[in-house]
This record gives sequence, structure tokens and C-alpha cells, in this order.
Amino acid sequence: INNALLLIVAYLLGSIPTGYLAGRLLKGIDIRQEGSGSTGATNVLRTLGKVPAIVVLAVDVAKGALAIAAVNYAFTTLPGWLYFSKLVGLDFNLWQPVMVTLAGLAALIGHSKSIWLGFTGGKSVATSLGILLAMNWVVGLATLGVFGLTIAITRIVSISSILGAVSVIVSMILFAQPLPYVLFAIAGGGYVIWRHRSNIERLIAGTEPKLGQKLEEAE
Ligand code: G3P
Repeated sequence: INNALLLIVAYLLGSIPTGYLAGRLLKGIDIRQEGSGSTGATNVLRTLGKVPAIVVLAVDVAKGALAIAAVNYAFTTLPGWLYFSKLVGLDFNLWQPVMVTLAGLAALIGHSKSIWLGFTGGKSVATSLGILLAMNWVVGLATLGVFGLTIAITRIVSISSILGAVSVIVSMILFAQPLPYVLFAIAGGGYVIWRHRSNIERLIAGTEPKLGQKLEEAE
């Protein structure tokens, strides 16, 4: 029950509809009807501007990091948790990374399939970064590095997100992370890339907008 609760908390954290709220509060619009239709910071940037995008980005990163922090807190600090786990003979070293991984996936899905938005949302890139930074900050920073470098060269966020997602798998192996984290990179990375289907179509057609550009401007 405790573990299921942690996953629900992670999903609900991911579900917080930051970009949608920004659209409603600042312009009275449904951001899902604008630009790419995503509730993520990239679409907030092209629809609402820089400051709202930075705030949405920061909150979305924090959501992912908090979901992982909640698991780590439960496993290392909550006395009831330790007692329960000893009682059922759980192997902590094995179980904690598994729960971190599952909570990461729950938060990631929460962001793109928010319970408050009829199971729609963003592409889970910022939330994934928060999850990675909290899982292992070196892997998180390496991913950010790949993302940053790609965006500096291409000025296209979706290419940077896709390459970042692929690089996570390499980083997890390179930095000798626990097997569940490697599986997270494969499942989560695959999911993030799958969420970019429409971007991939636009990239092939040569109509994917650059950072801050509206979709029409790239056509
Ligand atoms: O992080 C999402 C980004 O990779 C693409 O966003 O709005 O251009 O589809 P968007």
C-alpha cells in the first residue's frame, strides 16, 4: 500500500498542469489549442513568452525531482517505512532503485497524461530532466549538456529533446547505474521520443519551428 501511494503521489506531482495554468491565468487561453498543442515550456515560450516559459520549465523540472525525492525520503527517513520493510524482509538496496524507477515513470506519464487535463499534457522532457537530476545528478547534467549543445547548434528544441533522451541510455550505462535506472532510460526515453511523433513528422517535412518560433513561421 505504501509503495502504491508513492506512485500515486509521483503521478499526481507529474500531473500538475503548469503550462495549462500559465495559459489560463495569463491570457485566458487553453494552451493545448495553441502552437504544437503541448503544455510544455517550449510551447509556453512560443505562445506566452520568455518569463512564463522559464517559470513553467522550473516547476516542471521540480515536479520530477520531487517525485524521486519523495521515494528517497520514504526509504531513508520515514520510520514507519523502515519498520514495515524490515518486517517483510525487503532488500533495500534492490527495492529502492526499483521504486525510484517506477515513480520516475509515473511522474513522466503524469506530465503528459495529466488527470486534470483529460489525460493530455506535454512531452515530459523537463519533468524527465528533474527525475534524472534526482536519480543521479551526473547523468542529469550529462543529459542537460547534450540537450544544451544540440540546441546551441540547431536552435530546435525537439531535436535536442530526442538526442537528450537517447543520450540518457548511454549515460546510465557509462556511469554504471543500477539496472532499473538503465531500464528507466530505455522505457522513459522511448516514451519521450514517441511523444515527439508530430515533431518528427515536421522535422522530415522541414517545417519544425526553431526555438521561440510559431509553427506558421516555420512553414
Ligand atoms: O520539450 C518539448 C519539445 O521537445 C518540443 O515541444 O512544443 O515544439 O512540440 P513542442
